[in-house]
Amino acid sequence: MEKKKISIQGKVALVSGSNRGIGKAITVELLENGAKKVYAGARKISSLEELKTKYGERLVPIELDVTKDDSIANAAKIATDVEILVNNAGIFAMGNFLGGNLLESLKTNLDINVWGLVKLTNAFLEILTKQESAAIVSISSVAGLANMPMALTYSVSKAAVHSVVQGLRGELKDSNILVAGVYPGPIETDMSKGLEMEKDSPENVARNIIQGIVEGKEDIFPDVMSKQVAEGYSTSPKAVEEQFANFV
Ligand SMILES: NC(=O)c1ccc[n+]([C@@H]2O[C@H](COP(=O)([O-])OP(=O)(O)OC[C@H]3O[C@@H](n4cnc5c(N)ncnc54)[C@H](OP(=O)(O)O)[C@@H]3O)[C@@H](O)[C@H]2O)c1
Repeated sequence: MEKKKISIQGKVALVSGSNRGIGKAITVELLENGAKKVYAGARKISSLEELKTKYGERLVPIELDVTKDDSIANAAKIATDVEILVNNAGIFAMGNFLGGNLLESLKTNLDINVWGLVKLTNAFLEILTKQESAAIVSISSVAGLANMPMALTYSVSKAAVHSVVQGLRGELKDSNILVAGVYPGPIETDMSKGLEMEKDSPENVARNIIQGIVEGKEDIFPDVMSKQVAEGYSTSPKAVEEQFANFV
């Protein structure tokens, strides 16, 4: 099947959770690569001041909380020209069976990482199908391919994202829309502050995500660790499961 390559030049994008971390880096990367406009989704518009000052009219702040239906509906009412939707907003609520916080963290992770992503995608689907060429880019995690027991419920949510991406890609296989899943390893952002692991930079991740969609990649492994995991996963998913079980 022919790859759906996405040119960034002159495109209009929306990035959820664009005010910091990976989302901010993706927003910058899109604008630096010739995107006409990026709707920068954030729960607090004031957190976008730095980006707004730098990019002026090409950056359109948009109040967006993916757990709030009216916020999503409002975004879809305003951003009717979106061609690239980046589902980046996410949370890392720690919890597992033996460590505690199991049910609370499961609910939080699912509410934001899965329900939020599904609702936002659903709200923009009609807009995207009308475009000549479009993309839906969703950030899962390597923990979505094999569960990391130390963050069991987060992994569950990211596995659900992986499944949503696969299902939607199947549904849209005859469409003009590239449905890409992104599977990062540990990245140097607020989210991973407590994790003692080697981390890649959000800028490098953003560069590889944008490069990935330009090349029409459906599965994007945007950093050093994720590339290694992808290689291991392609030969033995079981070995990756065992490797992740050793992370504490
Ligand atoms: N960092 C990693 O190691 C890593 C690895 C694999 C995958 N990921 C994934 O990459 C994505 C970005 O993570 P990050 O590392 O950049 O995290 P981060 O620095 O903690 O940023 C998370 C972003 O999501 C936003 N957000 C949280 N809840 C939201 C909600 N209900 N509605 C809208 N936005 C919301 C945050 O907004 P506020 O500023 O308002 O809180 C923030 O902009 C996430 O999906 C994450 O799971 C991260």
